[in-house]
Amino acid sequence: MPLINPKQMFADAYAGGYAIGAFNVNNMEIIQGIMSAASEEKSPVILQVSAGARKYAGQAYIMKLVEAALSLDPTIPVVVHLDHGPSFEMCRDCIDGGFTSVMIDGSHLSFEENIAVTKKVVDYAHPRGVWVEAELGKLAGIEEHVQSAEHVYTDPDEAVQFVERTGCDSLAVAIGTSHGAYKFKGEAKLDFERLEAIGNKLPGYPLVLHGASSVPQEFVEQCNAYGGKVGGARGVPEDMLRKAASMGVCKINVDTDIRLAVTASIRKYFTEHPEHFDPRQYLTPAREAVKEMVARKIRTVMGSSGKA
Ligand code: G3H
Ligand code: 13P
Ligand code: ZN
Repeated sequence: MPLINPKQMFADAYAGGYAIGAFNVNNMEIIQGIMSAASEEKSPVILQVSAGARKYAGQAYIMKLVEAALSLDPTIPVVVHLDHGPSFEMCRDCIDGGFTSVMIDGSHLSFEENIAVTKKVVDYAHPRGVWVEAELGKLAGIEEHVQSAEHVYTDPDEAVQFVERTGCDSLAVAIGTSHGAYKFKGEAKLDFERLEAIGNKLPGYPLVLHGASSVPQEFVEQCNAYGGKVGGARGVPEDMLRKAASMGVCKINVDTDIRLAVTASIRKYFTEHPEHFDPRQYLTPAREAVKEMVARKIRTVMGSSGKA
């Protein structure tokens, strides 16, 4: 199966009350780990590439790795998506380079400026068959080009106006999640009333949840037991993600949990084998840790096993 745009994936997910996992990719081992989990679970999957990932690995390398993965298991529907596209130009480059979905992130702009840049991307993407995700509202925390100390939750009426005026295909909403490993100081809390209000005003429309890593405590403990310092890291409880998936959230973004899986595994390996220095020795279990984490998430959080 060639790379596809997520239209059908999201329509099926919306109807079935489950979500598609969108996993950030930065290198070969991460792509292999995610793809073997998706194959094993027979699940559709979104591989997403941030501006930082493009800079680190290079778009051409990532696309060739994805191509290799598709040829190994052509039965899995795969989308390649630009995550947090900072500009029209980067979205255009990704569309021209074969991405089947892009996100234009104008969440740091004014409402009107966000509409203008999103519409410009939609006008370029749609004639080329490419899906466009946009964002309205701000997640607290630090993204590569967007910094916000406070959450600015998505307003349901503005969301409707935004979708109508831009023609964007899916919308990332701010309901209390944030990027990174430190999501909640006190009790974990998401604004489900707001999510419900947005969903009611946009029936059938796919919503997206960013900042949706669960920060599994076994990874945090393993990092810290082997010399790391990631104390106090906390993510979104899995039951909240499942609830969001049943309320119109069709795409759930995960990056931090991949970083933690890789780092916990490598830290342990280095401590247990201080004499080893062949990268294949420590990257093999790291790749396996990504696979196990992603497979588990597909089964117990996304609910997308067997939907390929
Ligand atoms: O939302 C941000 C993603 O976790 C990507 O992070 O920009 O450091 O690659 P990055
Ligand atoms: P996490 O930091 O929670 O993994 O969020 C990733 C994300 O939203 C990528 O766009
Ligand atoms: Zn994000």
